[in-house]
Amino acid sequence: MNMIKLANFLRVYVRFTIAVIVLCISDDLFSYGEGESGLTYRISHAYPIIKKVIHALESCRKPVVAALLENAKGEHLEIALSCHYRTALKTTKFGLPQVKHGLIPGLGGNEFSTEMAISIGLVDEVFSSSAEAVDRAVAFAHNLAGTFPEHRILRNCFMKDAAKGEQLMTKYMSALSTKNEKAWSVYMCLQTTYAASFLSFEEGLKKESEALQFLISSAQFRALQYVNESEILASRWKFSDKFNYQTVEPVQVRKAAVIGLGTMGSGIAIAVARIGIPVYVMEFNEAVLKERAELIYSTIRRMSLRKEITETMCNSMISGIVPISDYSMLKDVDLVIEAVFELISLKKEVFSNLNAVCKSTAILASNTSQLDIDDIASVARDPGKVVGMHFFAPSHRMKLLENVYGTYTSYQTISTAMHIGSLMGKVSVLVGNCHGFVGNRMYLHYMTESDFLLEEGAYPEQIDTTLKEFGFTKGRFEVADLSGNDVIYTVRNGTHPQKKHGKRHRERVRNGIRYCPLADILVESGRYGHKTDGKGWFKYVDRVPYVDENITQMIKSYRESHDITPRTIHFEEVLHRMLYCMINEGFKILEEGMASSPNDIDMVWLHGYGWPKSTGGPMYYAFTVETKKQMVASECKKFKFCHTWQPSVQNAILMLSALTKDATALPTLIHLFSE
Ligand code: NAI
Repeated sequence: MNMIKLANFLRVYVRFTIAVIVLCISDDLFSYGEGESGLTYRISHAYPIIKKVIHALESCRKPVVAALLENAKGEHLEIALSCHYRTALKTTKFGLPQVKHGLIPGLGGNEFSTEMAISIGLVDEVFSSSAEAVDRAVAFAHNLAGTFPEHRILRNCFMKDAAKGEQLMTKYMSALSTKNEKAWSVYMCLQTTYAASFLSFEEGLKKESEALQFLISSAQFRALQYVNESEILASRWKFSDKFNYQTVEPVQVRKAAVIGLGTMGSGIAIAVARIGIPVYVMEFNEAVLKERAELIYSTIRRMSLRKEITETMCNSMISGIVPISDYSMLKDVDLVIEAVFELISLKKEVFSNLNAVCKSTAILASNTSQLDIDDIASVARDPGKVVGMHFFAPSHRMKLLENVYGTYTSYQTISTAMHIGSLMGKVSVLVGNCHGFVGNRMYLHYMTESDFLLEEGAYPEQIDTTLKEFGFTKGRFEVADLSGNDVIYTVRNGTHPQKKHGKRHRERVRNGIRYCPLADILVESGRYGHKTDGKGWFKYVDRVPYVDENITQMIKSYRESHDITPRTIHFEEVLHRMLYCMINEGFKILEEGMASSPNDIDMVWLHGYGWPKSTGGPMYYAFTVETKKQMVASECKKFKFCHTWQPSVQNAILMLSALTKDATALPTLIHLFSE
């Protein structure tokens, strides 16, 4: 029955013949991910009709029971909320995901978490078997026949914590600012919920509708729609009509292996086991193997304790991860992922060993972050079976997987790597074989530019604050301290810092290109970051970064020793240079065909490097940058929803800067909004 018929039905027939109504709500009524135009169309055309249905359901004088099957999300759940009672399956998943899409629930629904659905009394009856779900819901409804459930109508209910509205608002605002949240939909969702605590139902709905209208015409909504579409497009790799994601079958992986159980290998083994594939794990000696396997098992147990996985899953993952010490055990595996140290000689040695024992159909993947896949493949019996599978730390959690194809990688090998990534729930992006692939190649420019800025007059805290204001969760220097400044030193100098000691390089030009050795000086002074007692670009107390006078002094002395007169660098220059240097590299990557689309580059940065989702990614941002200021300014003028503040541009600035909690955000925002 379509929505219009349902509305008429409720209006006309219910009055006479029907005692109770059971509305079965399954998850095929609406879905997200259809693109901006589909969603926009739905909101402008379908919502007015759905609102009528909701009104008819709510005001129906016979009890209406929603039988929630499978997923009860988004508009489905909002319709269910307008029913007087709700039944669900144990496995039904609840949620209002509109916020992730840059919107808010716009049909009268309120924010609540999936886990809380049962505990907050949203559901009246839960059934375990889907086969009996409808019959049991009907039986439940029959017991209600003859009653008029006025007290169950949502508009007649009061918010439980209404009196604490302001207090809760402050608490959640502070949580958002700690998370450096920049999505306006999240903020608006909080505002509409707060508004519900002191406004009448009708006034609340009006506010909600205003907020939705604001969001749907915002740049953030367009960016988030782009992100959702790009996530889907990333998996649709295509070389030709003959060789693409639809035509090339992946190899079926029944058994896998991971070599090297350090930071990356341990997480990869967990990710493989989690998709139900038994996995052998290897280290270079027995003692390390035992210790690392135990660490893996305890990580899995912690996942179970946190309810990320069930106990059954926990047990099967643990029994599926089998430590082995001999390559001969690998003769029947279908996929090996190597994650040993980043040394080409070692990688080749491991691949030669695999070559000698693995069956000819086995796919051999390397987790290298920058080495040449063709070089690694040169020792393989069949280079077509060699591929890069570049995970990101922590590899069982991070959503990005860069799959790297070399000159000889076969389509079937590519298909398998992409398939495994999607089974793991990752955004798998297929990229070409160049130094650093897509993500690290661009990241190198980002780091280099920040060092030039230090040289010229900026300081680490200024650069990091600017980046965080833009929306990055962490700044460039904080990230370096976290992952270890020594690691990138080794990449830059081709040798470990301890070996370099005593032979300091201080050149400002390397291979004919501008070079800044400040990061080398930092590392050679023993400041690797968190791993060296929290001393890096910052000093840390409880892992919170603080400006370190020694670093300020180090930078000043460096400038003096090179006769560099520092200048005041405006935050805007910092932001532009930090972002545009990598965007430029992104265009080069596209030109060389190392990524098949700007969307793929954006997915790498969003899911691997913490680029703020609400700006779409570096390439999307580049396309919007021309008109960005005008858009922000005009959106700000439309920003008149908030109850407690006056609808002015200045107040919108205050609201947004409150989100960042950082007073330094204010000049940035005033600058952006006043242009
Ligand atoms: P790690 O140093 O934490 O772990 C490497 C492990 O390999 C160690 O446990 C070591 O004992 C083991 N190993 C060394 N030689 C071995 C051999 N012959 N046989 C078996 N095991 C051996 O290094 P991490 O960080 O896990 O990096 C591994 C690979 O992943 C590298 O290629 C790195 O570039 C790449 N990668 C690292 C990322 C990171 O954030 N750490 C991110 C993405 C890729």
